[in-house]
Amino acid sequence: MRAAFLSTTLPFADWDAALKEHMPELELRPWPGIGDADAIDAALAWQPPAGSLARLPKLRLVHALGAGVEELLADPGLAPGVPVVRLVDPSMTRAMGEYVQLQVLRLHRQDFDYRAQQEAGLWRELPQPAPGERRVGILGLGVLGSEAALRLKVLGFDVAGWSRLERKQKGIPSFFGKDGLAALVRRSDILVCLLPLTRETENILDVGLFAALPRGAAIVNCGRGAHLVEDDLLAALESGQLSAAVLDVARAEPLPPEHGFWSHPRIVLTPHAAAATNPRTAAPIVAAALRRFAAGNRLANLVDRARGY
Ligand code: NAP
Ligand code: GLV
Repeated sequence: MRAAFLSTTLPFADWDAALKEHMPELELRPWPGIGDADAIDAALAWQPPAGSLARLPKLRLVHALGAGVEELLADPGLAPGVPVVRLVDPSMTRAMGEYVQLQVLRLHRQDFDYRAQQEAGLWRELPQPAPGERRVGILGLGVLGSEAALRLKVLGFDVAGWSRLERKQKGIPSFFGKDGLAALVRRSDILVCLLPLTRETENILDVGLFAALPRGAAIVNCGRGAHLVEDDLLAALESGQLSAAVLDVARAEPLPPEHGFWSHPRIVLTPHAAAATNPRTAAPIVAAALRRFAAGNRLANLVDRARGY
């Protein structure tokens, strides 16, 4: 089987080596050296070179090498009927779960305040609420959001989630739709965003949502930078409506050196590192999908292109 590797950011050699272990018969060709474009019927893609998708006229499958596919779906070269599979890798799910646990615990255990006190040379114990007294809301109860919710529940937090359609999640109260969002936000001392970026979810973390959170709430954004209206966050931190923010993603990545987030005392940044794609763990998953595709079997984790995720 022959597939094109289309990525401006992922290391071809690592993917090629990892995939060969699981699918020795796969001929993976990196752009632009793909040979006869008509002989390529599948592409493994992540931030593909501009125009590359458009130059594969026989493409019948795109397997994304990441979980969020908004950039791929926006690529003008992606032909309308081509199925897109996104990466669902249990190792990434675990990594995101760990990240959310870490950041929610950081907020719960007042790490921002203790750091500020340390800088001020202040030895002062703060009140110590139990996790059950901390309400955590998860925007997006999909693969990653559900894992994060369950892990937080195990830690004893009062967790609830929000999705587009009604979802029954073991022991996690869940809300859905517009009314559900208002209800979830009202009860979230810590709000975690694990939504895909779509027309409906862009700019969702804005002044209106911040105003609806309990005063002094904190946010964790590990969805996409465009979920957040950055100036609204700065204003909410300034006014004390929000007490802190943990951001793994930004509108412009890497965050420009002059950006105000770098030095903000109530913002913790990580460089889009919550759950990285790993060729070693992803290769068997991608290989299995390519085999199913070659055999004409139904594919898992197909993106609904109209819905945008
Ligand atoms: P997923 O399984 O597709 O889940 C998406 C969830 O969001 C679903 O529960 C879905 O609702 C909900 N949702 C979508 N649109 C909505 C809307 N308009 N209103 C309410 N809920 C909505 O996706 P995933 O695998 O969990 O990944 C989520 C996102 O995480 C990715 O798209 C990506 O942006 C981000 N991500 C970040 C990193 C990182 O390192 N920072 C790594 C991987 C992924 P339904 O259940 O009703 O469909
Ligand atoms: C990373 O952000 C991903 O979507 O896989």
